[in-house]
Amino acid sequence: MSENIAISAHHLYKAFGRKPKEVVKKLQAGADRSSLSHLGTAAVIDASFDVKAGEIFVVMGLSGSGKSTLIRMLNGLLEPTSGSVTVMGTPISGIPAQKLREVRRSNISMVFQHFALLPHRTVLDNAAYGLEVQGIPLAERRERAQSIVERVGLAGWESKLPGELSGGMQQRVGLARALVSDTDILLMDEAFSALDPLIRREMQEQLVELQSELGKTIIFITHDLNEAMFLGNRIAVMRDGRIVQVGTPDDILTDPANDYVAQFVQDVDRARVLTASGVMEPAKSVVSASAGPRAALRTMRDLQTSAAFVVGNGRTLVGVVRDKDVMRQVRAGETDLSLIVRNDVATIEPDAHLSDMFELSVESPLPVAVIDDKKRLLGVIPRVTLLAALGNVPSHTGEVAIVEPPATYSMEVITETLRETAPAFASEGGTR
Ligand SMILES: Nc1ncnc2c1ncn2[C@@H]1O[C@H](COP(=O)(O)OP(=O)(O)OP(=O)(O)O)[C@@H](O)[C@H]1O
Ligand SMILES: [Mg+2]
Repeated sequence: MSENIAISAHHLYKAFGRKPKEVVKKLQAGADRSSLSHLGTAAVIDASFDVKAGEIFVVMGLSGSGKSTLIRMLNGLLEPTSGSVTVMGTPISGIPAQKLREVRRSNISMVFQHFALLPHRTVLDNAAYGLEVQGIPLAERRERAQSIVERVGLAGWESKLPGELSGGMQQRVGLARALVSDTDILLMDEAFSALDPLIRREMQEQLVELQSELGKTIIFITHDLNEAMFLGNRIAVMRDGRIVQVGTPDDILTDPANDYVAQFVQDVDRARVLTASGVMEPAKSVVSASAGPRAALRTMRDLQTSAAFVVGNGRTLVGVVRDKDVMRQVRAGETDLSLIVRNDVATIEPDAHLSDMFELSVESPLPVAVIDDKKRLLGVIPRVTLLAALGNVPSHTGEVAIVEPPATYSMEVITETLRETAPAFASEGGTR
């Protein structure tokens, strides 16, 4: 189990001030943080979590909530007042300084908001700095740095000095320096917070890309909710030293643990956070390709819909049939549904963000179908569901027809038609 866990925090406490141990003891006995200010500041209170290898774990919270203190305990820069940290299976609390440096060097690099680049060294040598400290020969470190410098989008800038770079580029050099040492874990404390919005967004996208290419474990601190939601596989929300919720962005948006988190997330750009699979509805108006038009018509009648999704083996999406076409087939006594299946279904993959769906949804009169890589129909997203998710209001589409436009024929007309056209000797289970 532990090989999948990169960092584990176990009941971590950190107090500053006159009597840190006492602060923690009182907190553990149930005292309130604010009642202990005469003894010290409780910066982190009882934080426990596991960061899985290869995930982006975001720690989010307002200024002063304890984020930086927490992250500094994770790489041993700060000793916890109580509790323990395990890095790649090695407990780091209380180990000798030499050993700790080793764990840090081989496992963890860090990127800060203002990265201290060496002003008289080139981009390439700044990026290679960590290797220099490790005593790696010049040629090798330049070679390793070169490939990372290209990865972070600085090709062509290798021989510039930091002063010749924009803020965003300097931050890329900082990121390159952290990546060059090729540690499994990257700790990033407000690494993009000083950048202007467009550059910042670019860096966020690039980080996600780098992560999926290099498979690093990233712990990313931010007080920006949109950034947290965009980057995080999971997010820990901190308040006054405590972690008040850990969850996926979808979890936190749709099921905030308390009013504090709910208030925090109310202004988030939901379209960029919520995913298709997070908001989709079960597809009900579904018929099997082999079922035939009479069954399809009955399904549509019962659900009061104007269309039905047609699926083949393993619920793979074949297309859609419309009630007018099905009615025509039934009246004509035809039995092959495949003749009228249309392929004009808008589809989207489950991980897509809602922001990728607007155009599809506008252009498609039917709900957008969510399908996996094997084309299996996982669910549907009608426009009303999309709007409800964006507006953070519950959608009650369970009770209404979710295939737009509404049914062309009334239930009575359909029932009547089914009866009139019923094969002479077949029982259809309905009234005869
Ligand atoms: N070295 C220190 N000595 C005393 N108090 C400290 C120290 N470092 C942090 N604190 C206090 O601990 C609390 C948490 O600080 P921390 O820097 O971890 O917050 P943060 O969430 O990173 O805030 P920001 O978003 O402003 O960076 C604050 O009340 C801070 O004043
Ligand atoms: Mg901080």
